[in-house]
Amino acid sequence: MIVHVFDTPAQVARAAAAVFSAQILKKPDSVLGLATGGTPVDTYKELIKLHQDGILDFSQVTTFNLDEYEGLPTSHPESYVAFMKRNLFDHVNIKQSRLPDGLNKDHQKECAAYDEEIRQAGGVDLQLLGIGNNGHIGFNEPSDHFVYDTNLVDLTPSTIKANRRFFDSEDQVPRKALSMGIGTIMEARSILMIALGEGKAEVVQKMVEGDIDPQVPASILRAHKDVTVLLDRAAASKLSL
Ligand code: PGA
Repeated sequence: MIVHVFDTPAQVARAAAAVFSAQILKKPDSVLGLATGGTPVDTYKELIKLHQDGILDFSQVTTFNLDEYEGLPTSHPESYVAFMKRNLFDHVNIKQSRLPDGLNKDHQKECAAYDEEIRQAGGVDLQLLGIGNNGHIGFNEPSDHFVYDTNLVDLTPSTIKANRRFFDSEDQVPRKALSMGIGTIMEARSILMIALGEGKAEVVQKMVEGDIDPQVPASILRAHKDVTVLLDRAAASKLSL
């Protein structure tokens, strides 16, 4: 695990976009794993800028997202389909993008199909991750074990609270989501994690310096051979590096 600390979130976004750029320039038909949430928004803005400036061409790129809420119509502005369209897909020329279908009532079939499609696409080359306050990656919540495959997850009260800011009231926050499993994430050839702000400092410290523990799902990343972590000073403030 390589950890880089930058002075500002803007620098983190530019560094993350540089990693994505290198990947796409090296392999134009890359399979990218994408994330939602507040953290990657500025990285997506940088990628859009690079595309508009004629530097990045996504025309051979395929993407798979980490997760999607269960039962939320894709027309809802906080569905992850809508988020991705607004923040990236509508502004670049990605060949093909896929998110778990949270409206498919046969969750098991959908989750199995999702993992199979990732495999058929050749696996994820570069997976972008944020980290939840509780250490989740994707929506893999703290647990007594790591779940391997894409699966239907019960969101924890802390995640529901964290997601409250995107909805009019806590009642409207979905309680379940379909998420890539820890195994699906760990199979990516390279992983890029971004964490910003003081609110993430404690969990970042546990991820980087604590034990590998399913109660801090992100700690499993230390067992992956190619993980780059980009932090701003605030998110890095509890590291003893
Ligand atoms: P955030 O979420 O980017 O909105 O902080 C990160 C996550 O929950 O993975």
